[in-house]
Amino acid sequence: MKRFNVSLAALAATAAFATAGCAGGTAAAEGEAPALKESLAGRFYIGTALNTDYIYERDAQADAVVVRHFDAIVPENVMKSGPMQPREGEFFWNDADRFVEYGEKNDMWITGHCLVWHSQAPSWFFTDAEGNDVSREVLVERMRTHIHTVVGRYKGRIKGWDVVNEAIMEDGSYRQSKFVKIIGEDFIPLAFQFAHEADPDAELYYNDYNEWYVGKRDAIVKLVGELKAAGLRIDGVGMQGHIGMDSPSIEEYGAAIDAYGKAGVKVMITELDMSALPTPTRRGGAGGANIADTVGYREAMNPFTRAISDEVNTQWNARMGEFFKLFLERDDVVSRVTLWGVTDATSWKNDYPMQGRTDYPLLFGRDYQAKQVVWDIAEMAKDIK
Ligand code: XIL
Repeated sequence: MKRFNVSLAALAATAAFATAGCAGGTAAAEGEAPALKESLAGRFYIGTALNTDYIYERDAQADAVVVRHFDAIVPENVMKSGPMQPREGEFFWNDADRFVEYGEKNDMWITGHCLVWHSQAPSWFFTDAEGNDVSREVLVERMRTHIHTVVGRYKGRIKGWDVVNEAIMEDGSYRQSKFVKIIGEDFIPLAFQFAHEADPDAELYYNDYNEWYVGKRDAIVKLVGELKAAGLRIDGVGMQGHIGMDSPSIEEYGAAIDAYGKAGVKVMITELDMSALPTPTRRGGAGGANIADTVGYREAMNPFTRAISDEVNTQWNARMGEFFKLFLERDDVVSRVTLWGVTDATSWKNDYPMQGRTDYPLLFGRDYQAKQVVWDIAEMAKDIK
């Protein structure tokens, strides 16, 4: 396999571009960028997450980017259990139906996200009329009804489901969510069983973040083994991929992909974005109680309000390229890479983990233009077999 030095290529291309007199930090080489889905055809699906504006095609320029570059979609929010079933037995289908129609119209691989998650769940899900936790039996029934109803509605149309999201902690222990506290750790096999009952042909995935942590990685490998040993269907592990400029390393990310591959499942990078901003500390820096410090700290955490610096832009493109190099080298295992959004303007990273910042985490800038790495991916895909 020929190795392609993306860092040097990205640097050279960015330098050449800067000499050509273009500024702004997001635009790359001249002309229309090669379509990602063509560059990556036969390697893995290249997907994006759609918010409601995209689903309803309210932004024609963003829509053009989605249709040209992506062949897979996932809903950013509209299929989570809160929006799906806001009150017991009352399902809200409009946005999810429209999302699925969008994918079918554009001939895309459609993934559902997500069936069982402690977050963005409706408040009624875990409690009775008095506000007390429900029994194990009631919660299992609620899970069964939710999964059967949602998966059943899109049977044969949604091709894969994030069945359980974010259940394992970095040290390998189970998250102490209401699901674990009320049902126990077997809420996971139960969720997979219910999803398979509702659509036997759908692929089923376990999805999580920080899955390169060794403790978490090993626990997920164990979970995959347990599900398989129990005769349950699990097709893949989804690695969210909300990464930063410094962490994780390419090596630890690659080791995690290899570990999941060895466990006998496909690997999907399901929510890829890379923040170009510094990572805020929980306490807001030293002496954070003083308001002047807080304002200064906020400014330091939000350095590119008008445009990203050329230096960080170059580093960002090079590092994102390194990740795609890794995915291409492992395309026997990696079956899909999905970006968590379309352009930087609408990324959740602008408000997470700190609100109101200007971040640059996606492959397309606020001007809808492809970043340098989109060209680099096309070159790498030719070189890496
Ligand atoms: C995020 C969405 O992007 C935001 O719009 C929303 O406010 C919160 O959820 N892990 C997941 C995704 O599995 O569903 C989350 O999406 C990001 C973290």
